Amino acid sequence: MAAIPLPALIIDSEGRISAVNDAGTEIFGRLLQGRHYATAIRQPRLLDAIDRTIATGTAHEGELQSWEGPREISYGASCRPLDLPGGAAVLICLMDRTDRERAGMMRRDFVANVSHELRTPLTALLGFIETLRGAARDDAQARERFLGIMQGEAERMNRIVEDLLSLSRVEEDERMRPTKLQDLAGIIDSAVQSLRPLAEAQNVTIDVSGREEAGPVPGDADQLQQVMTNLLENAIKYGGAGKTVTVAMRKIDRDAELRGPAICIEVTDRGEGIDPIHLPRLTERFYRVDSHRSRQMGGTGLGLAIVKHIIGRHRGRLAVSSKIGQGSRFSVFLPAG
Ligand SMILES: Nc1ncnc2c1ncn2[C@@H]1O[C@H](COP(=O)(O)OP(=O)(O)OP(=O)(O)O)[C@@H](O)[C@H]1O
Ligand SMILES: [Mg+2]
Repeated sequence: MAAIPLPALIIDSEGRISAVNDAGTEIFGRLLQGRHYATAIRQPRLLDAIDRTIATGTAHEGELQSWEGPREISYGASCRPLDLPGGAAVLICLMDRTDRERAGMMRRDFVANVSHELRTPLTALLGFIETLRGAARDDAQARERFLGIMQGEAERMNRIVEDLLSLSRVEEDERMRPTKLQDLAGIIDSAVQSLRPLAEAQNVTIDVSGREEAGPVPGDADQLQQVMTNLLENAIKYGGAGKTVTVAMRKIDRDAELRGPAICIEVTDRGEGIDPIHLPRLTERFYRVDSHRSRQMGGTGLGLAIVKHIIGRHRGRLAVSSKIGQGSRFSVFLPAG
């Protein structure tokens, strides 16, 4: 029993628990030995599987939920008949299925989210096609306007698909740590350059400082530029028209969490800020504080999810702090050299 690396117990021919290994004791507690299984085990799905194993002499699968501190753990329980010298017995082994179940749930959520995000523009497109074929058939002015909206919706679907693809590409090589040294200051400058039109349209000034501090970091240039672009784009979009967005780079001799020297890049805006209740979920796919507004601005809610994965691939970390009414700061820490 002790050699079985999973929680395990044996029920003898009398229905008493005759053996429990250490892992099993951790789940069921110490008082199990010698008690009848029907009084010691209170979980109906497991009891049912044991009953049926005893009645039929064949293997059955059951389930068990247990708590490890605040964490709920779900086990699959495999019950097998055993032929012991004292008579027919049952061996029960438990397998932790929590991670598998959680992964399955996340996958289902994700598919539901993607479908929902794509359905909204698709429904709009179908509606306008119908109108163009019917009521607005001969109305040149309406046609022009509807085609404009339709183009916007189609572009939105296109953006969602592109973002999803780029997310899955980052995930694919997440285990491969980039090694080529990159010039961070140059990457940041070109991200700022590419967002200049958006910033000008919003009358936002971008102020970059600390270029001399940002030494070379091992990284993937395209991905790092995407991180900067996504953070800056948010700062411009949500930072409020007419305000200043600052990008500051600095060297850190030793970052406690990264356990070594790091470069920190801070993107700070002076916008409306983010309520702290949203902060832990901000990097989830499709998570938006105000989804209606974000959608209106063409947002897909994938920008920060991409940022998080890219930083993860670079073995760095992302920190967010924000004060309602004062602005937000997104800090990227990357291991240096
Ligand atoms: N600087 C910021 N200030 C205030 N809120 C922000 C800021 N950055 C992000 N947010 C909030 O976090 C949400 C998620 O951001 P994210 O970049 O992932 O998605 P998005 O900007 O809505 O869409 P996308 O970036 O895919 O176009 C945003 O919808 C917004 O509500
Ligand atoms: Mg964004």
